[in-house]
Amino acid sequence: MGAKDVLVVGGAGYVGSHTVRYLVRKGYRPVVFDNLSTGHRASVPRGVPFVKGDLLKPASIGRALEKAPFAAVFHFAAKALVGESVENPALYYRENVTGTLNLLEAMLAHRVKRIVFSSTAATYGNVEAVPLTEDHPKNPCNPYGFTKWAIERMLEDFHAAYGLRSVRLRYFNAAGCDPSGEIGEDHDPETHLIPNILKAALNSRRKMKIFGDDYPTIDGTCVRDYIHVTDLAQAHVLALDAMKKDVHCDAFNLGNGNGYSCMQVVEAARRVTGRSIAVTVTGRRPGDPAILVAGADRARDVLGWSPAHDSLDEIVETAWRWMVAHPRGYVG
Ligand SMILES: NC(=O)c1ccc[n+]([C@@H]2O[C@H](COP(=O)([O-])OP(=O)(O)OC[C@H]3O[C@@H](n4cnc5c(N)ncnc54)[C@H](O)[C@@H]3O)[C@@H](O)[C@H]2O)c1
Repeated sequence: MGAKDVLVVGGAGYVGSHTVRYLVRKGYRPVVFDNLSTGHRASVPRGVPFVKGDLLKPASIGRALEKAPFAAVFHFAAKALVGESVENPALYYRENVTGTLNLLEAMLAHRVKRIVFSSTAATYGNVEAVPLTEDHPKNPCNPYGFTKWAIERMLEDFHAAYGLRSVRLRYFNAAGCDPSGEIGEDHDPETHLIPNILKAALNSRRKMKIFGDDYPTIDGTCVRDYIHVTDLAQAHVLALDAMKKDVHCDAFNLGNGNGYSCMQVVEAARRVTGRSIAVTVTGRRPGDPAILVAGADRARDVLGWSPAHDSLDEIVETAWRWMVAHPRGYVG
């Protein structure tokens, strides 16, 4: 088996492309498989093989798995917009659940024995305790969260029945960009807070919309845990190392364990950019918990994960560097 050969499904997307860079730095040989529905060909480094294919077409994933004796698959591909999942759940069950089932069946057929899966804090749903630990009840409150939880259960069943090893990484809010400023976050529509605040910093005619300022938090706006995308990348590689040893089927939260309110993030962006950022407050969005903060001790203890970027200003600064260099994203 090529211990350094790994297939990165969804590797042209935001978190996937940062993980590909990290893998290359660590001496792995990634191959990227992506349908470019939300990803960008330009985010894949020169020299990294790229296969354009779709998880809903099992033959294309089979062909990709023939490219090398892969030691593992990293699976980032998904539809990931909460609002869209409420409006069109069929799309989410098809893309996320059926797409992943196709991937797992192809892995079994090609004897690929390990997978690291991008899960999410949205699997917890209504929050009963903060910080959230992995054993918190799972009550997803939208189809997106349900599809991710269904996949987690599917991975447990595939481990029990077929011995397929898996680590599910439950990200909190992925944020920041590669410090080089060469790759970054470029979604359309963009629903994430930090890039939207920075777009308002770049264009003074834009106002940053904050959803609700009457939550029981420090300043009334929602509190979230922002985790740097290269710290997420590090966790993926550690998860693969752990699966080669004694972690065979497990789930870990990935967050900094610090919560910041939306207004605190706006203040950080004002400090970092030196610009005044106009804010407008609208009503709450249904289904937004007041506070989401990760208890991520297990990832530190079991995987040996040590996030390097725990300062909000530093996270925002890396995102700003990318945005200043690429105000129109990858198109520019
Ligand atoms: N960004 C976050 O804050 C966050 C938080 C929690 C979980 N996640 C999860 O992490 C993963 C990556 O998130 P992201 O922000 O990088 O998303 P992204 O949209 O930037 O990346 C997803 C990639 O998968 C590709 N893709 C989608 N469907 C595909 C298919 N059927 N076949 C092949 N390729 C396909 C897209 O083209 C894209 O390149 C997702 O699974 C998401 O649910 C993200």
